[in-house]
Amino acid sequence: MSAPAALHEAEIEALRSLCERTLRRNWLEGVRAADRVAFAYTRPSPAHYPWQWFWDSCFAAIAWRRLDPWRSRAELESLLAAQRADGFIGHTIFWSGAPRDLRLFTYNVLSRSATMTASIQPPALAWAWRIAVGDPTQVPGILAHQRWLAANRDLEGDGLIWIVQPDESGLDASPQFDAIWGSRAHSRPGFVLLVRRNRRLRYDMRRIAAAGGPVCCEVMTNVLYALSRAALGEPSLTPAIVERMYDERTGLFWPLARPEPSTRPVVTWASLSPLALPDLPEAIGRRLVEEHLLDPLRFWLPVPPTSVSAVEPTFSLEDATVPGIRRYWRGPTWINSAWLVWLGLVRLGYREEADELSRRVVSAVLASGLYEYYDPYTGRGMGAATFAWSALAMDMAQPDPAAARSYLV
Ligand code: GLC
Repeated sequence: MSAPAALHEAEIEALRSLCERTLRRNWLEGVRAADRVAFAYTRPSPAHYPWQWFWDSCFAAIAWRRLDPWRSRAELESLLAAQRADGFIGHTIFWSGAPRDLRLFTYNVLSRSATMTASIQPPALAWAWRIAVGDPTQVPGILAHQRWLAANRDLEGDGLIWIVQPDESGLDASPQFDAIWGSRAHSRPGFVLLVRRNRRLRYDMRRIAAAGGPVCCEVMTNVLYALSRAALGEPSLTPAIVERMYDERTGLFWPLARPEPSTRPVVTWASLSPLALPDLPEAIGRRLVEEHLLDPLRFWLPVPPTSVSAVEPTFSLEDATVPGIRRYWRGPTWINSAWLVWLGLVRLGYREEADELSRRVVSAVLASGLYEYYDPYTGRGMGAATFAWSALAMDMAQPDPAAARSYLV
């Protein structure tokens, strides 16, 4: 596939060198002091996020394959080096010392000396390995990780996985969780109580569900899990995602929760994320694109897609309502979301729209640098600077032909 029509070679080159500079600066290698285990990974943003975050590493590995493929493997092998004997891998791995101070109250650790959190992040590892390294079925640690998820997070036996806190979805303060976790949602003062309670229940989904929840079956988390299953050649999870979470009336996917919230869920980009599934029924994909994603009032703003539909009352570009605490995923555009919905545009043959999305995203990234997220009206970079996974813009600027199949064979 050639470069999007409106992108010049010089822009593609500038993007590549910006991404390479940022990723190299964020790279960290060493050995853990306590047990001499070697690590190598891309810090999401050195000043703000010094540790290894699970899904950040998956995205960074995907970006590294274009620059220095050795690092893709090293990055994902570091996740595997942190793995527990039962297959679990945490949301954040503290290679260079555990969190302190305020973070002790908000991080999902079971003790002050924990080497990683006891919570998960979206399981994109097998998919990332397939895209950036090779065949994940040959990697026992990846198989063990998938088995852990199936054994510990499939609440209803239909294959879908459930999360015990909003941050397990990677979409932290997304308003889709407001009605589910209420005053204990992420970045709200009550979140520390949620963390305290879940520590007591050892982040064990079944114990938490039995204690009254909340637990949530989140759409995007299951999309990434489904892509990992597909990367391993396991039966598709797409039929279950459609059956349980697709609503024919609105043409959108909705999260499930226990207890069930009494108010209507907020429309966020997660409702569109099944676009990344290569076997999503075409009619559903077209509705997601034509009725929702391309709506210039809701998602298709100058730098799309917004993380929340812009007509929702909770949509906000104000990310620092509480001093010192950022509320993420409540409006601005994130590059991993743009890339995931772009896969659907490419697959379904929306060529012009896919190119337009690439052009707008790449322009914002080139103008501001790699930021954590972007103002969807102006493209201004927001949140943490030198943010690694925004390097996924390279995949949109210079598409790999396999993007039309979500990189799966
Ligand atoms: C924020 C994001 C989360 C990400 C982390 C590190 O908490 O919401 O998805 O993994 O930062 O970049």
